[in-house]
Amino acid sequence: MQTLRDLPALRAAVDALKSDGKPLVLVPTMGALHDGHMALVEEARRHGRHVVVSIFVNPRQFGPNEDLDAYPRREAKDAQLLAAAGIDILWMPTVDVMYPAGYATNIGVSGVSEGLDGAARPGHFDGVSTVVAKLFNQVRPDVAIFGEKDYQQLAVIRRMVIDLDLGIEIVGMPTQRAEDGLALSSRNAYLSEDERKAALALPRALGEAKRQIERGEPVDGALARAIATLAAHGFDPIDYVTLCDAATLEPMAVLDRTARLLGAAKLGKTRLIDNIAVDPA
Ligand code: PAF
Repeated sequence: MQTLRDLPALRAAVDALKSDGKPLVLVPTMGALHDGHMALVEEARRHGRHVVVSIFVNPRQFGPNEDLDAYPRREAKDAQLLAAAGIDILWMPTVDVMYPAGYATNIGVSGVSEGLDGAARPGHFDGVSTVVAKLFNQVRPDVAIFGEKDYQQLAVIRRMVIDLDLGIEIVGMPTQRAEDGLALSSRNAYLSEDERKAALALPRALGEAKRQIERGEPVDGALARAIATLAAHGFDPIDYVTLCDAATLEPMAVLDRTARLLGAAKLGKTRLIDNIAVDPA
């Protein structure tokens, strides 16, 4: 595994890898790797011969009062895990390499990025689409893999790839969960022992609402009960619990097509998100 931090070295290494014509797969991450990330890396192996993983804690996707400084950084441990997984390149640009002095370009995807986390975290998805577009241009992958835990992010990136004719296959991987059902996330590290127990209310409330909606109960009542469950377990504020079209993320009041139930709420200082498929059949 080559660990690279500057663009000329990355370009040379990617050119060398691509010279055999086999597909190159990128797994973009912000590090503090857990089993969810490693499942993306395993999936990358299935999709291509060459695997590049990027680790970059992207300042442009954090709001002014968010956890950029506290975000866990574990470069040495991450590098060990990735070397053991047999990836080809670990791409770890510095902030100056990603956004050199004078940097002035922003990529914004309208529509799908505007509700949900786009409303709760203004500017977040501009930061995500800008850095992902840059990572795509730097690494030039054939395939890129993202987790479905960040479901709206995945939808925004799919839209961007279509709109900008990037010609990259985007693969979404099902959310990896702890044995008790909590979605794996680098931010779970912030939870106290009591908060970790209370956090389970999020997947459970979404699961219960899914069952109610799928058996034909009114969507608004099921969502209101999920919100009440979260509030009873100490989540505050609850940014949203919403049923959306699975592709466009437009809100749905009736289950008449394939949908996704998404929730986001804060427990103490930790903001948790989760989502689950809801099937009209
Ligand atoms: O999902 C993440 O870890 C980040 O949002 C991503 C896609 C690596 C962009 O910084």
